[in-house]
Amino acid sequence: MTQTSNNTIDKVRVNLGPRSYDILIGQGLLANLPSLFSNVGKATAIFAVCDEHVQAQASLVAKGFQNQNINVTHVVVPSGENQKCLDSAAKLYDQLVDSHADRKTMVLALGGGVIGDLAGFVAATFNRGLNLFMVPTTLLSMVDSSVGGKVGINHPKGKNLIGAFHQPVGVAIDIDVLKSLPDREYRSGLAEIVKYGMIMDADLFSFLESNAAGILARKPELLIKIIRRSCECKAQIVSQDEREETGLRAILNFGHTFAHAFETIGGYGKWLHGEAVAAGMVCANKVSLNRGLIDESIANRMVALLKAFKLPTDPPELSSAALLEVMRNDKKSVRGSLRFILATKLGAVSLFDDVTEENVKGVLSPLN
Ligand code: GLY
Repeated sequence: MTQTSNNTIDKVRVNLGPRSYDILIGQGLLANLPSLFSNVGKATAIFAVCDEHVQAQASLVAKGFQNQNINVTHVVVPSGENQKCLDSAAKLYDQLVDSHADRKTMVLALGGGVIGDLAGFVAATFNRGLNLFMVPTTLLSMVDSSVGGKVGINHPKGKNLIGAFHQPVGVAIDIDVLKSLPDREYRSGLAEIVKYGMIMDADLFSFLESNAAGILARKPELLIKIIRRSCECKAQIVSQDEREETGLRAILNFGHTFAHAFETIGGYGKWLHGEAVAAGMVCANKVSLNRGLIDESIANRMVALLKAFKLPTDPPELSSAALLEVMRNDKKSVRGSLRFILATKLGAVSLFDDVTEENVKGVLSPLN
């Protein structure tokens, strides 16, 4: 732990040899990034890409760099998943050229998952790679997409089909920004934290159960604890399987094969990602139950916790044929087979590649 003027800052290290970096978690971080991250202060210029909803926070960050005589070019990208496209990336490339960016320019992504993925992709590809710094401003991006180096944009035929692994040089998680996050988006982020409890940390799961009311009330000490633990979980996985080659990193996709299909067929934006993940994890647990991998009490505890966080626990009423088609084409599927991460006990999961279409249909909405 370190200290700013009046707040404690928690630190999580992502160990990746020469690509290692720190995640700092605390309050009042935004105006002090160059002094908190020594490597960041070495940038000669900052190309800050931010979401239209966090311009006040972006100005705070910019001031911190300007105080150190570091030039900041500030670019605002409209909100929405549809910004994760080649056109938006091309606009950012143009703006980087116009701002005379060179190899010492650092891209700073300030926003939710869309901004991190888009700006990260541009950082990975412009000038054969610029340093990237992440300032996630949604709970979901704090505990998932800002950590681990996956960056990318969507192809009209598939989410995140164009992308790269490009680790950031640092991640600053300032929980003050969560004060203004809309309730639905905040709860959506909680689904990914429940996921860490399910896949690898039964103690985190119990902590969420015991503190659900305080977490919903966004108590800072609880937020720091659950964000820190989630980042530790993610850092542990990423440092062992950075490029998703051994199968370990795939466990982060618990509930996501279902979720991705719900989002694709239901239409992006209808459900937030974390909402789809919540219902997807319930479906995955039903497959586990039907295979005798877990007992009912575990599945019931997860449903109760998701309900406490006011997240959906039933699959949407969509055609199972259409959902299965998406699941077969999932990036993670191998030659069209269905692969699922399934719970084997609370805090442990495994990859199964023998899940049948009947197994899947059996846990989808009975109305189709
Ligand atoms: N969000 C899944 C991963 O980072 O691998």
